Amino acid sequence: MPKTLAKKHTEGKPRSKKHGLTEAQIAVHWKEEAYIRPPARFIAQANLNDNYALERFSEKNFPECFREYAELLHWDQYWHTTLDTNHPPFWKWFVGGRLNVAYNCVDRHLAKYKNKAALIFVPEPEEENHIVITYQELYRRVNEVAAVLQGFAGLQKGDRVTIHMPMIPELPITMLACARLGIIHSVVFGGFSGEACGLRAADSGSRVLIYVDGYHRNGRWVDHKVSADIAVETAKKEGQVIDKVLVWKRYHHKYTSDAPMIMERDFFIDDILKDYRNAVVPPVSMEAEDPLFLMYTSGTTGKPKGCQHRTGGYLAYVTGTAKYYQDIHPEDVYWCMADIGWITGHSYIVYGPLALAATCVIYEGVPQFPDAGRPWRIAERLDVNIFHTSPTAIRMLRKAGAEEPKKHNYRFKHMTTVGEPIEPEVWRWYHEVVGKSEAVIVDTWWQTETGGFLCTTKPALDPMKPGSAGPACLGIYPIIWDEEGKEVASADHAAGNICIRNPWPGIMQTIWGDPHRFVEQYYKKYNKNAQSKDWRDWPYYAADAAVLPPDGYYRILGRVDDVINVAGHRLGTKELESACLTIQEIAEAAVVPVVDEVKGRAPEIYISLKPGVLPKKQIIEKVTSTIETMIGKIARPKRIHIVPDMPKTRSGKIMRRVLAAISNHMDTGDITTLANPDIVEQVRQIVQGREIMPLNEGPEDIKLFGDER
Ligand code: WTA
Repeated sequence: MPKTLAKKHTEGKPRSKKHGLTEAQIAVHWKEEAYIRPPARFIAQANLNDNYALERFSEKNFPECFREYAELLHWDQYWHTTLDTNHPPFWKWFVGGRLNVAYNCVDRHLAKYKNKAALIFVPEPEEENHIVITYQELYRRVNEVAAVLQGFAGLQKGDRVTIHMPMIPELPITMLACARLGIIHSVVFGGFSGEACGLRAADSGSRVLIYVDGYHRNGRWVDHKVSADIAVETAKKEGQVIDKVLVWKRYHHKYTSDAPMIMERDFFIDDILKDYRNAVVPPVSMEAEDPLFLMYTSGTTGKPKGCQHRTGGYLAYVTGTAKYYQDIHPEDVYWCMADIGWITGHSYIVYGPLALAATCVIYEGVPQFPDAGRPWRIAERLDVNIFHTSPTAIRMLRKAGAEEPKKHNYRFKHMTTVGEPIEPEVWRWYHEVVGKSEAVIVDTWWQTETGGFLCTTKPALDPMKPGSAGPACLGIYPIIWDEEGKEVASADHAAGNICIRNPWPGIMQTIWGDPHRFVEQYYKKYNKNAQSKDWRDWPYYAADAAVLPPDGYYRILGRVDDVINVAGHRLGTKELESACLTIQEIAEAAVVPVVDEVKGRAPEIYISLKPGVLPKKQIIEKVTSTIETMIGKIARPKRIHIVPDMPKTRSGKIMRRVLAAISNHMDTGDITTLANPDIVEQVRQIVQGREIMPLNEGPEDIKLFGDER
């Protein structure tokens, strides 16, 4: 593949001109890679190995085709309407049906699998033993925690709870305990700051926070409980009182945090649990449309939005897709290295795999601790056969120890990649070295909003093509449109906005507390008739650019909105910019994505100062520390540039596209229409000429899995 051209692709509207070609055209000129066929051994045992599925999920069978996924679950009461489209785009799935998610992920497996491992916890310190939690033990623990939430914290169906926890088994146990009672959980990624957690807790109206004292991360002990106090304070400023903070202990016999427990507010769950030993809490029979959880994600405004996912449709969709695309059987040992605090972890560590009675590995730490052989030692020891990770982790492990997998005697039948586009050469290392040329790979494209996979190959049926996500998933009908709503067909050899024409059970219900924004953001762009009750008039706008080659294998190019995908994690440029603007000296801030060898993209920040303020190193340090406090270390900028002014349009809009071009050493394109074209050369001098104050130097960039805590 022509690497130089590949590097030239940036996020943002694929429009900037280079030698007369648009970015999209450049992307389309990437070489199409040759197909690689799935091995016969895999096909023979696959959950989905007949092409009849395509017929079953064909458009003429929509929406009833999705019954097939729902029928993988236990329903207390069967639904009467598969899809209700009366209030577009607020679809209702499996209306009339009742079920409980915890029952489906735990109780129903007891008859057959009670002594089988449900979760295997691998602590980061290698000298610590693994902890195996069988389905029976999971059942006990979920019930006991549910009893604490109900009896001690007074929580009930419909209440929201914010859970700010890292990768320890108490996290899925707490989530399942919420699901058992119909409590809506909102898990905040452990690497986010206390302030970020507090804002999300306030938005969701949680009066209970769930924490852990601390955890191991990259060889260090992270004191996590300290951030609970900040979260409570932040929520209070937003008008939300948190009256209880329930604190798990990473080591049940000792409390390991410098933060004091606040009387009457903070309680150790381990202590309260003593009063609920062997408690059994009947699962609450939920309506299919009752919300299951919120997952906050970055979008086009400064405020993260709470994607609200439903009970029945969501569980049906993640169960069906985990079964067909990840090929999970109860006999498999499945390890997804993502964090449960992101949607990947919700759908494809907790809910999908447990609904299929899989054995799931939960690893506390960073992949390359204490060295790049660690994941492969874990895989060998536990005999993991299905593996799931992100391109960033793959790039990093390859950089840190390209030969390591060869030294270990594990055997993967299947591997997933998710979160960012994967370069064909990285894909090949994943396939040949990590997968030992035996494992099937699925490159799954989807989003927090979509609940589950949208495009990927069907592992036993479709050949793989490095660098392309693949065809649409069963029952998903994508289309690519240009800005004017004209279809971009494969014959056009151009990129456009990928949309999904039809609803599907995994799509979010709404944005928590903001249905208007839900419609504006995802449906307004291509809706032609706001009165229409026909789902065909309400395509879902994904805010990703994509191209469609003749074989129907979608290639996703990246975000077209103000979201930067850093190491597969979504950061809103507006969130970073608003953090900068809280600093007194700063007049304006603009955040742009720069190509990063390991993380895919990283944020770079431009700031201009208020009149009379001198550019000083302290201001740059303030930017970094403010971002760490307000968002978390994952959002730390790669570099910060102080510039005399921003390139602007005549109406005063900052031209981020021009700044992004400078940061990425690209042609800035036509700048003659700017209000201040002369500034462009000055900024280029500052950025490319005498690089001022590079931040994030040294080995730090490759040290962590994209989330420096
Ligand atoms: C990007 C993660 C290319 C995309 C599940 C999307 C991908 C955003 C892929 C959603 C992929 C995800 N190939 N790009 N296989 N998967 N993306 O909400 O830009 O954290 O819009 O969900 O990640 O990120 P999110």
